[in-house]
Parts: sequence; structure tokens; C-alpha cells
Amino acid sequence: MTELSYEVVVRMLRTAGCVFAEDEATLLLASAQSAGELTRMVERRVSGEPLEVVVGWAEFCGLRIEIDPGVFVPRMRTEFLVDESARLVELVRLVLPSDEPVVVLDLCCGSGALGVALAETLDTDVELYSVDIDPAAVECARRNTEPVGGLVLQGDLDAPLPEHLRGRVEVLLANVPYVPSGVIGSMPAEARLHEPWVTLDGGPDGLDVLRRVAALAPRWLAPGAHVLVETSDAQAEEARAIFEAVGLTARVAVDVDREATAIVGTLVAD
Ligand SMILES: C[S@@+](CC[C@H](N)C(=O)[O-])C[C@H]1O[C@@H](n2cnc3c(N)ncnc32)[C@H](O)[C@@H]1O
Repeated sequence: MTELSYEVVVRMLRTAGCVFAEDEATLLLASAQSAGELTRMVERRVSGEPLEVVVGWAEFCGLRIEIDPGVFVPRMRTEFLVDESARLVELVRLVLPSDEPVVVLDLCCGSGALGVALAETLDTDVELYSVDIDPAAVECARRNTEPVGGLVLQGDLDAPLPEHLRGRVEVLLANVPYVPSGVIGSMPAEARLHEPWVTLDGGPDGLDVLRRVAALAPRWLAPGAHVLVETSDAQAEEARAIFEAVGLTARVAVDVDREATAIVGTLVAD
């Protein structure tokens, strides 16, 4: 089989509506091991599969995170949750005995990207637990978290967590699905057709899973510990109120450059 040339791949991608056709072509040519594989990869991309799924990995916080078909592709804006968490862990570290690891919980972990990135960022021992309801995500997260020694559990939010974690979690990260159900139909095809409904759907106002995470957080957080979730700009005030209603102090954090909004809740120490 004759290998597709760079120019032909660029033309095919551009015709299919890929905005960064040149960059994508370079990546596809570098990733394919044979002419046949390149053709198959270009066909998949042209049919609308996310580039990260086609090549099998996404860059997140400077790391290469493996992505399997059907697993949510971590977005660059979500790096903000990791950066904010890392800053908070520095403060936690000041009061924890130096030989104790920081316990991190990544709920709705998808590929496991957030927990892995946080563990890799921190200059301290981390005990990482990651949970997802979707078996494909769990399998993918297990491979990604292996280098940092994380434990990945399958189940509904906190249902599979071991009892000994109660009151011990220092940072709870949860990039939950937060798209209002009625809006999913107007999302770009890449997400709408290739990322499962369970990764996107947050119920009528997009905040159903977030409400459940807020309700469970106080059970698992250590005194003074933090829970961080991503929301849209429009949801932020309502989400903050949800956190406060369960007894957490809460603030909205914004990163204008990455167009990211996060709610940071804290369990006030007695
Ligand atoms: C928006 S994706 C985020 C994935 C990952 N945290 C990231 O940012 O790349 C939401 C994830 O939540 C998972 N999920 C949805 N409902 C869940 C539930 N009730 N319990 C556990 N995981 C859930 C989905 O399978 C999906 O992987």
C-alpha cells in the first residue's frame, strides 16, 4: 500500500473541517507504524473521531495520558483544577506530619488524568484513589495511574471506596459531567458522537452529579481539606451555593486564559 503523503493528509483533514490540519497531519504521520495504519487513522479522524482517540493519547499537564475509545478526552482547561489543587496541597503539607502521604481522591476519573497529573506535580508522597462508573474508563485509568501507584475502583461515585478513607482525604478532585441534558445535542460532533452520554450528561441543569459530590464530600474529607469541581461560568454561582448548603465554605476560582471555572470547597476544621 502506498503511504499517504503529508500534503494529501492535510487536504483530507482540511476537507473534513479539521482546523489544525497541518499539526494533526504531522502527528498522524509520526504515530502510524505503516502505510495501512496511516490510512486507517486518517479515515477515523476524517469520520470525526477525536484526534486523541485515534493516536491513543492526550497531552495533559505536560504528560502523555493514554486514551481508549469511549473514554473522555481530558480538556486543557481542566489543568486549572490540577494547578489549584497543587497549590492547596502545599498548604496541607505544612500541617501534615512529613512522613504521611497526602490522600488524593479523583472521582469521575475518566482516563485518570487529573489524579496522575497532581501526583506527578507534587513534590510529596501521594496516596491516590480514582473512581469511575464506566469499565472502559477504569481500564484506561488503571494503565495511566500505574506509574504513580494509584488504586482505581469501579462504581458509582463514593460507593466503592474503602471505609478507612473516611475523614482522611486531603484533596477531592471531581471533574463531573456537567453539560445540561438539553444542550448535549448542540455540542460539536466530536464530543456528541464519540464521547459516551455518561461522560457529559449532568441532568436538567447540568448540576445533578455535582450535587451528589457535594453531599458526599464531607464524609470523606479531612478537617480543613478541599474538594474541587469544574463548572461552566453560568453554573458557578449555583454550584457554589450547593457546596455551601452542605456546610462547606466555597469560592469560585477562574482562569481567564484557559476559560476555566472551578468551585473550591473546604471542610472547615472545628
Ligand atoms: C467529564 S468526564 C471527566 C473525566 C476526567 N475526570 C477528565 O477530566 O478527563 C466525567 C466522567 O465521569 C464518569 N461518571 C459519570 N457518572 C459517574 C458516577 N455516577 N460515578 C462515577 N463516575 C461517573 C464518566 O464515566 C466520565 O468518565
